[in-house]
Amino acid sequence: MINKTSGTVVDFDEYQEQKIKKFSLTNQHGVTLSVLGLGSTIYEISVPTKTGKRNLVLNYAHSRDYLDNPFYVCMAIGRTAGRIANGRLMLDGQTIQLPTNEGSTTLHGGAQGFNTQIWQGEIVHATNEDVIKMYHEQASSDGFPGQMLVCVTYSLTKDDVVEIKFSANSNEKTVFNPTQHTYFNLGKTETIKQHWLKINSNQVLELDKQKIPTTKKLPVAHTSFDFQGSTKLGTAIAAMSDTNEKGLDDLFVVQPDESGIIAELADPETNISVAIESKRNGLVAFTANSFTEEHMNLIRTKGVGRPYAGIALEPETLTGLEKENDFSEIELQPNRPKSYTIKYHLHF
Ligand code: GAL
Repeated sequence: MINKTSGTVVDFDEYQEQKIKKFSLTNQHGVTLSVLGLGSTIYEISVPTKTGKRNLVLNYAHSRDYLDNPFYVCMAIGRTAGRIANGRLMLDGQTIQLPTNEGSTTLHGGAQGFNTQIWQGEIVHATNEDVIKMYHEQASSDGFPGQMLVCVTYSLTKDDVVEIKFSANSNEKTVFNPTQHTYFNLGKTETIKQHWLKINSNQVLELDKQKIPTTKKLPVAHTSFDFQGSTKLGTAIAAMSDTNEKGLDDLFVVQPDESGIIAELADPETNISVAIESKRNGLVAFTANSFTEEHMNLIRTKGVGRPYAGIALEPETLTGLEKENDFSEIELQPNRPKSYTIKYHLHF
């Protein structure tokens, strides 16, 4: 029995002729967190069960599978999570035209976002708790200003909290709004319809046809977007069957509770839950409505994708809440490092 969180590194596979490593941490309770060098991707968050271990996140057996579809499975997202309309970034009154990667939109940092990069990593050994540190230098060839040094530190506490800390420093003014695109499925079933979800949010952002938020905030009360009390996802998804999306793909304005929690996902059958802690004002909830059968070689669903196979819960900073194209909330000043932390409190 180990008596601290300890880390190991193994070779995972090769991607574009480069070695991809897998970095893992295991704590005293037998919880394991592992991260791949490709995309700083969470490959595994597994908890012990009576008969073995249960992985709570979607994953693939090979690095190449991760970039074979537009779903960002469990990958690090940056420089900016979410959509920038027409790829037009406003900074200091100037428009910067970014390359677009989803029609006219720049999604999740664009075609050269964090998820497409091969990150360097290491296990930092310490007396009480080893941690995983992933490093990457994001070049301005992605279309955003600034050479940005990014470090993501992943830790796993003795109390079964996964902590993800994104830190960045840029040589020029730029934007930084990272997240981890983790898709959870805490259950034994192939979809998350049996899960219950609670979000500390009374407003959701109105979206235009390109799924870009407008400045309008819609109250969730008396709608199927009200997750203020714990709600069964299958029931909420069924109530959305006449919408285009046929499920959740929404930006919630969140208020952390007294413990800093913004959302909680639970599976009644396995009795596993995860509470998400974040200090930022937003959470995207995406129930994988558009998952396709092909190009989704997921281990859990034996190589076939299917809608609702998991739910992505993505803490981020909502921009332009008062004024369109206002990115001031996510500006990163030159040589002024900034960090954001996301925590998953696991209960099993
Ligand atoms: C979410 C986004 C969805 C979809 C998904 C990745 O953050 O809201 O519309 O793009 O990422 O497949």
